[in-house]
Amino acid sequence: MRADPALLPLHVEGLAFAAGGVAILQDVGFCLEAGAPTLLIGPNGAGKSTLLRLLHGLLPPTSGRITWAAPPEVARARQAMVFQRPVMLRRSTLANVAFPLKLAGMSLAERRARAFAVLAEFGLAGLADRPARRLSGGEQQRVALARAAAMAPAVLFLDEPSANLDPAATRAVEDIVAAVAARGTKVVMTTHDLGQARRLAGDILFLHRGRVIEHAPAARFFAAPAAPEAAAFLKGELI
Ligand SMILES: Nc1ncnc2c1ncn2[C@@H]1O[C@H](COP(=O)(O)OP(=O)(O)O)[C@@H](O)[C@H]1O
Ligand SMILES: [Mg+2]
Repeated sequence: MRADPALLPLHVEGLAFAAGGVAILQDVGFCLEAGAPTLLIGPNGAGKSTLLRLLHGLLPPTSGRITWAAPPEVARARQAMVFQRPVMLRRSTLANVAFPLKLAGMSLAERRARAFAVLAEFGLAGLADRPARRLSGGEQQRVALARAAAMAPAVLFLDEPSANLDPAATRAVEDIVAAVAARGTKVVMTTHDLGQARRLAGDILFLHRGRVIEHAPAARFFAAPAAPEAAAFLKGELI
């Protein structure tokens, strides 16, 4: 099943988020188009995870607007998010992938077939009958991505999906992200891994101290960042 990207473009205007009187994001504005993944990068504490949560509707903005190219309830239903630490249900890998399909009203036969097809597509068929909570961290993260991909979301938010994974597991996660993007899902993800951002990104949103200070095509951003903070960050300087 191919994802329908009709939620895009996404327009964000004047977005701000404060907690306990502290401004965490301010004056955030950008437009995301369908196509290759958008990578959010920037120093720890810049506000990347908070921005993903706002975009996915898990946090209410303090001010500003998030506007999808579809009614809000359609946008909500057609997007998914995978967190840094995947939550696995105490059942088989196959059942974990099939569970959201059940909630979506799919018949038992249909959802088992779909779940198995997605696991197979991502090279995870051998894990289908294993208890999901006994899988390694890297395997669990790949299963979490497969579970989200099985729903063919129009937009998939990923918050540091390969944090804590070794290089091989990181590459396996990236292969899945690229495959999901190739079949039409708009991926919006954070990473602290600049190599990963170079490998996956179509465009880069660079955050610094709660503001988006650069939004650029990835090739241009990495070759010649416009913001001095971005240039310093790419050189590994503390900013
Ligand atoms: N609910 C909250 N209440 C208070 N501070 C928060 C809250 N959520 C995030 N923060 C703070 O906001 C800043 C941005 O956090 P976060 O979005 O997690 O950054 P990043 O993902 O870029 O590392 C951090 O300083 C964090 O401590
Ligand atoms: Mg974060």
